[in-house]
Amino acid sequence: MIPYAIWSEAGGVGKTTLAANLARAHANLDQDVLAIDMDPQDGGLTNHFGLDDKKADSDADNLVLHMIDRARGEFDDLIRSSEGIDLIPSHNNLGNLTDLLSKAKDLEEQTSDVEFEEEKQLRRVLVDGDVPSKYDVLIIDPPASQGQHLYNAVYATSNLLIPFEPSPKGERSVQGLRDVVSGLESELGDIDVGVLGTVPNKVKGTNINQKYLDALEEEDLPIAPVSIGERGSMLGDAWDNQVSIYELAENDSYRDLRGYEEPTLEKFDELAQYITEQFQTPEATA
Ligand SMILES: Nc1ncnc2c1ncn2[C@@H]1O[C@H](COP(=O)(O)OP(=O)(O)OP(=O)(O)O)[C@@H](O)[C@H]1O
Ligand SMILES: [Mg+2]
Repeated sequence: MIPYAIWSEAGGVGKTTLAANLARAHANLDQDVLAIDMDPQDGGLTNHFGLDDKKADSDADNLVLHMIDRARGEFDDLIRSSEGIDLIPSHNNLGNLTDLLSKAKDLEEQTSDVEFEEEKQLRRVLVDGDVPSKYDVLIIDPPASQGQHLYNAVYATSNLLIPFEPSPKGERSVQGLRDVVSGLESELGDIDVGVLGTVPNKVKGTNINQKYLDALEEEDLPIAPVSIGERGSMLGDAWDNQVSIYELAENDSYRDLRGYEEPTLEKFDELAQYITEQFQTPEATA
């Protein structure tokens, strides 16, 4: 399985946009994709695919309940589907994840000798649900802040893909990123966290943009061989229609624009390919 979390500590740099469109790009490569929305806020991946009807339903079974051993149903029933992509949607309980995990830990440790490690619960749920054998790709979209959402996402995937916006906030977010990754490794204990790549996003080709891209080159981080241009109109339309840009481009009313937007689709294709290649053994590619 190809597991990764898309993360940057900068907000609004394109984490969810990359998650949605990469999920579809992987599916186009005939890979079985599971995407998980770990962000409690509205306007995330769940909303992007129009699957937020149960987000505020306090009776609905949800991922958090599985993480704290209070599941109300089967793991498979958490999974929804759109455009051939499986998705575990966000739920408002994610807003209390830290608290709920901490209470579950207290309870577990009062009633048994088993240690309950808060940051390892998502991985446990996914392994119990046979996700590694059922899916080719796992993409997790956690919120920007550091805490149990990110820790669980990183422990479950061991890999990060980092969108980079060529702007002051983008630059700040990659400075010291290696230290942040080392910090995550010591927080989580027994895993190595790989950085699959930083992905320049919202690139406009201006001189000022180039200055930030040059600054990224100075960092000790792999840079993906593709960058995504500033495509607010197409990406905004995709959000509004609750589809990926691939599905949008199939739409009749979009056909005239398709020639202009085709390179963006190809960039996402290349990005999915680049990520996939990092998981292929030398024999498989020979
Ligand atoms: N390449 C791009 N060109 C133009 N607009 C973009 C691009 N990528 C993302 N956006 C826009 O930027 C906004 C923020 O994107 P997105 O929600 O993906 O960021 P995020 O990192 O997930 O944010 P948050 O930190 O809130 O989770 C959205 O309106 C999105 O359409
Ligand atoms: Mg987001």
